[in-house]
Amino acid sequence: MPRTVPLAPVALLLASALTASALTACDAGVHGTPGGSGLRDPYFAKMGNGGYDVTHYALDLAYDPDDEHLSGTATLTARARQDLTAFNLDLKGLDVERVTVDGDEARWNRAGQELTVRPHDDLDEGRTFKVAVRYSGTPETITDPDGSEEGWLPTDDGVLALGEPTGSMAWFPGNHHPSDKASYDLTITVPEGLQAVSNGELTRQRTADGRTTSTWHTAEPMASYVATLAIGDYDIRRAETPSGLPVYTAVDPAEADASREVLARIPEVMAWSEETFGPYPFSSTGAIVDRQGDAGYALETQNRPFFPGAPDTATLVHELAHQWYGDSVTPRSWRDMWLNEGFATYAEWLWDEEHGGDSAQETFDELYAHGEDVYDDLWSFPPGRPSGAAHISDSPVYQRGAMVLHRIRQTVGDAVFAGVLRGWAAAHRHGTADTGEFTAYVEQRAPDKDFDEIWDDWLYGDGKPADPGAEPGR
Ligand code: TRP
Ligand code: ZN
Repeated sequence: MPRTVPLAPVALLLASALTASALTACDAGVHGTPGGSGLRDPYFAKMGNGGYDVTHYALDLAYDPDDEHLSGTATLTARARQDLTAFNLDLKGLDVERVTVDGDEARWNRAGQELTVRPHDDLDEGRTFKVAVRYSGTPETITDPDGSEEGWLPTDDGVLALGEPTGSMAWFPGNHHPSDKASYDLTITVPEGLQAVSNGELTRQRTADGRTTSTWHTAEPMASYVATLAIGDYDIRRAETPSGLPVYTAVDPAEADASREVLARIPEVMAWSEETFGPYPFSSTGAIVDRQGDAGYALETQNRPFFPGAPDTATLVHELAHQWYGDSVTPRSWRDMWLNEGFATYAEWLWDEEHGGDSAQETFDELYAHGEDVYDDLWSFPPGRPSGAAHISDSPVYQRGAMVLHRIRQTVGDAVFAGVLRGWAAAHRHGTADTGEFTAYVEQRAPDKDFDEIWDDWLYGDGKPADPGAEPGR
């Protein structure tokens, strides 16, 4: 019998309501307040939690695809941002068995995706603490507001974990919001014969008693939505980029032939990207290719993007560009999604321009003239303000987002624009940033230019902006 007494939600409410009076009544040791149950993200209000920052995730997990059973312990190192009597983690589904804070048994309760932990002793502001959650069960597949599937996605021979925007709470408890990035160590045990691939670098692998344990280390800060775990039978290859970066690819054998040629271009795409976006922010690169019909989309999982089948070159360029724009410079909230997708889409345009395809100007002109025939929602909302959680991956965020960047290029010229691309990636390397910081950054790089029309009409304005080519004085 665990000593843990799960707290009823009402008891926690009482605890927080009592805090203020406890403070004035006496010095009985209750001096904090509970951390918030969300970060007020404009699109995903319950994602993330207030009152603390996670600095490190240590995930020690075992999974068997045969019975779809996941079990293990997540140990988070975090820093209290206020005096805390309780704090929340996001976890959807699964059974929690035990929670400790700094080794002491903690009380906890669950309501929806919120796991509320009440440590034995209050945590002082500034204090670094470790919370360990032991849990098990069959993780859920989560359906996004836009109807796509994420979270835990079983494959023919294993599973794939994809986390944009909310899926990571299906397989580990955490502060699941892009504004709280952390380093990771993932130790994963699977039946012998299967591989387990994640972010970062493989630092250890051993097989004993019919099970293989792999440890993946991610030193650079990572947002939990780009954390991944792929378990299955993979064709694994290692290579190096021209600058000596390790390339690790894991490919579903059924996609190996179709993938070979395009994945062999990773070193070339990386070299071009480093030239165009600046120094690569991580310690390794690569790709994961697995047949996953429910996903059906690629994702910029950190270090090695995921592809649901052999990608084309444009998609490879897009996902590798995200490593700079999205994974390294991460949106502060889901409203800033165009800082990911506008940049990654513009990377495709630039790649085309520099590899014998259409110029970015031609792509822009074509979209301006005929965009609504290809994307029926292209002008339906501005990139800087998506119309709802179901629309953060719609074409106004991607294509019109890229058009914002092209309007900036038209205004500042190629040389300054190249500096904006590199400088923006450098200014917020390994951090988070929002749209206001981006517009301020652009203005600072080109103080003599006027960006009002770009911000007002292209970034934040409703409807189709006036034809820039037709404007007087341009
Ligand atoms: N970010 C992915 C890409 O462009 C696409 C994507 C997958 C996505 N899942 C999502 C976008 C969920 C928004 C929400 O490469
Ligand atoms: Zn993208």
